[in-house]
Amino acid sequence: MHVLVTGAAGFIGSHLCERLLRDGHTVTGLDSFNTFYDPAQKARNAEDIQRVGGDRFQLVRADLRDLPALRAALDGVDAVVHLAAMAGVQPSIREPLVYEDVNVRGTLHVLEAMRERGIHRLVFASSSSVYGNAQRVPFAEDEPVDRPISPYAATKKAGELLCHTWHHLHAMSVICLRFFTVYGPRQRPDLAIAKFIRMIDAREPIALYGDGSSSRDYTFVLDTVDGIARALARTAAPGYAIYNIGNSGPISLRELVAHVEAAVGKPAQITWQPMQPGDVDRTWADLTHAHADLGYAPHTAIADGIAAQVAWFRG
Ligand SMILES: NC(=O)c1ccc[n+]([C@@H]2O[C@H](COP(=O)([O-])OP(=O)(O)OC[C@H]3O[C@@H](n4cnc5c(N)ncnc54)[C@H](O)[C@@H]3O)[C@@H](O)[C@H]2O)c1
Repeated sequence: MHVLVTGAAGFIGSHLCERLLRDGHTVTGLDSFNTFYDPAQKARNAEDIQRVGGDRFQLVRADLRDLPALRAALDGVDAVVHLAAMAGVQPSIREPLVYEDVNVRGTLHVLEAMRERGIHRLVFASSSSVYGNAQRVPFAEDEPVDRPISPYAATKKAGELLCHTWHHLHAMSVICLRFFTVYGPRQRPDLAIAKFIRMIDAREPIALYGDGSSSRDYTFVLDTVDGIARALARTAAPGYAIYNIGNSGPISLRELVAHVEAAVGKPAQITWQPMQPGDVDRTWADLTHAHADLGYAPHTAIADGIAAQVAWFRG
C-alpha cells in the first residue's frame, strides 16, 4: 500500500514511517519542518527514515495549509495517516489562532484533498486531552467530550467532528486515535520526560506543577505506532470509529521523576509551582475497544521505555 503520512519528520511520524516501510509499504512523508522545535532534529529523523525506506520513501516539504501542494502529495496514495499538527497544551493558550489554522483548517484540507482524489482511508491523530477533566476513569471512548479545557483539545475535538462529517457525506473510512502522552526516542523536547532527562542530566532545577499527584498514562512510542498500524489496516473496512491508544497504567508526576532520576543516574532538584491552567489532572485510557477491535496491547514498561529514551538522548 502507498501511505501518505503528514507530520512524517516529527516524533511519532518518523517512527510510524519506519514501521510502515519495514512492513513493506511505500510511504510519502509530508512535513513543513516548522520551528515549534529545532527543525534540525526533524531533518535527522527524516534521514533515519530514508535509511530504512530507500526509494520506497519520498519526503515532501510542504505545509498542510498549501492545498495545491497537499493535492500533489496525494498522487498514487491509497491511505493517509494525518499526524501533522500544532501539538502541546500550554502554547495553544498563548497562540490559539495558529492552532486553529493548522489543526482545524489543515485537517479540513486533508479531508477535502482526499475527497477530490477519491482516497477513502484515513487515520487521524486525536488526543486524550479531549477528555478534559472527565471524572470517570479510565476514560472510555463513549465519555462525553464536549468540555475541553485548552484550545489544543478543542481543535482535536473539532478534527474528530470533521472526520465524522466527511465519513458520513463521502463514505470515507476514518479511524480517530486518541493518543495518551507519548514518549521515547525522538520525543518532542517540550514534553515532560524529554525536559526532565535533559535538565536532570545537566543538574538544572526542574519545575513541577501541582503537588506531584497529577498523573498521565505514558505510552511508549513504538506501542503507539503499533496501534496506528493496526488502525490503518482496519480502514480497509468502511466505517468511522474512535479508539484510545494509551497504556492503561497511569503514573504520577512524583513516580515519573523517580523513574527519570534512576535512568539518568542523578537526583532531581525540584521547584514546586502551582498547577497550570489548561493542564488536566489525570489521564488513563480504557483500552477495551482498542484491544477487542484492533488487537492493540501495549507492552513497554515505563522503566524500559525511559531507559530507551535516555539511551537515545546520550546518542
Ligand atoms: N506526543 C504526544 O504525546 C501526543 C499526544 C496526543 C496526540 N498527539 C498528536 O500526535 C501528532 C504527532 O505529534 P508529535 O508529538 O509527533 O509532534 P511533532 O511536533 O513532533 O510532529 C508533528 C509534525 O508535524 C509537522 N507540522 C506541523 N504543522 C504542519 C503543517 N502546517 N504542515 C505540515 N507539517 C506540519 C511538524 O513540523 C512536525 O514535524 C499530533 O497530531 C499531536 O497532536 C501527540
